Amino acid sequence: MSTPSLKQVAPLTANQIAKVKRDGFLVLKAVLDPELCGQARDDMWEAIETHLPRMKRDDPSTWGPITAEESARLKAQRPAGGGDPYFSGSEHRFTVRNGAEELLLNLAPRALWQVAEQLLGEGTVVWPAGLDESGSTTGPCFMCDDAVGGLVSHVGHEMGWPSKGTFTTEKALRLPKTGPVWLNGQGTRGLYCTLPKSPSPGPDYRGAHSDGACYGRGRLQMSAYIDDVPPNSGGFTVWPKSHTRIWREQWKAFFAGEKHTDKHLAVRRAGGYTDPVIGQIKASTQPFDCHGPAGTVVLWHTKILHLAGQNASDDVIRQATIYGFLKTPAALPDALVVDNTNGDIWRDWSDEVRG
Ligand SMILES: [Fe+2]
Repeated sequence: MSTPSLKQVAPLTANQIAKVKRDGFLVLKAVLDPELCGQARDDMWEAIETHLPRMKRDDPSTWGPITAEESARLKAQRPAGGGDPYFSGSEHRFTVRNGAEELLLNLAPRALWQVAEQLLGEGTVVWPAGLDESGSTTGPCFMCDDAVGGLVSHVGHEMGWPSKGTFTTEKALRLPKTGPVWLNGQGTRGLYCTLPKSPSPGPDYRGAHSDGACYGRGRLQMSAYIDDVPPNSGGFTVWPKSHTRIWREQWKAFFAGEKHTDKHLAVRRAGGYTDPVIGQIKASTQPFDCHGPAGTVVLWHTKILHLAGQNASDDVIRQATIYGFLKTPAALPDALVVDNTNGDIWRDWSDEVRG
């Protein structure tokens, strides 16, 4: 796909690339177009006005948690053609599934396109094309058990795929616009928002996790803030340097016959919320709260341990969109998707990163 005419976030410096490799993440403060961030905030409030009108933009005292009754009502509004409800939520979280819309794509993943190619290699990344004329998305998806599970839960009904993963790539997987469009690389996750005064995750940070499995097409993810995220206000929270440890353990476990989704195992070695390596990382590393003004982007290695932080503020809604750049089937054939015999975590990254 040709280089977009959109304003691009500047390429990373050698120091920044070194930091991505060492820490597994990088915060780029206020790098996104402020006008697009403003539009995305206006769109979010329009969606709130439609779906949860008791919340008023100019009155933070109305931004209380979503009740069970409100949650059930929102959940019932699935689109007829499949996909998640456009607006859903429960307690202190709500989601707007607008991730395949042009605004969200232009705002973040496309503005980071040059950076993504700089890190993953020019011509090796799936372009987020968004919606086609028929209003759906098409892109490649590696059909592991995780992906198949995600398809069923987010599309809302069976679409004829086998219930177990085939561990091969479906090159042109078609998904409805509010479906899991991050799985075929065509959309962001939409807006993931945390309301003020959200509960503490507790001293052991329950809920901290590493996204998906080590095998797959994803390597680089980003979280982009469309509004200010002050400290302790729900920012993306990471455990620095955890990417290499989880990468290594997940591959070891996979080669030993364990899949990320083998939930029935009494002791699973890697891939879940309570695996030994996760506990070890929590015990040895202080998490870092990625705060920043509107337009801030956090880039992270897909295996890093993270969670959406507690929003301890009274008057901030944490508003983030998340996207994972995928390697194309041509650049990363299936044989390599399920293989990491040399253990090299940077094998599928650019020469600049590997250098
Ligand atoms: Fe996550």
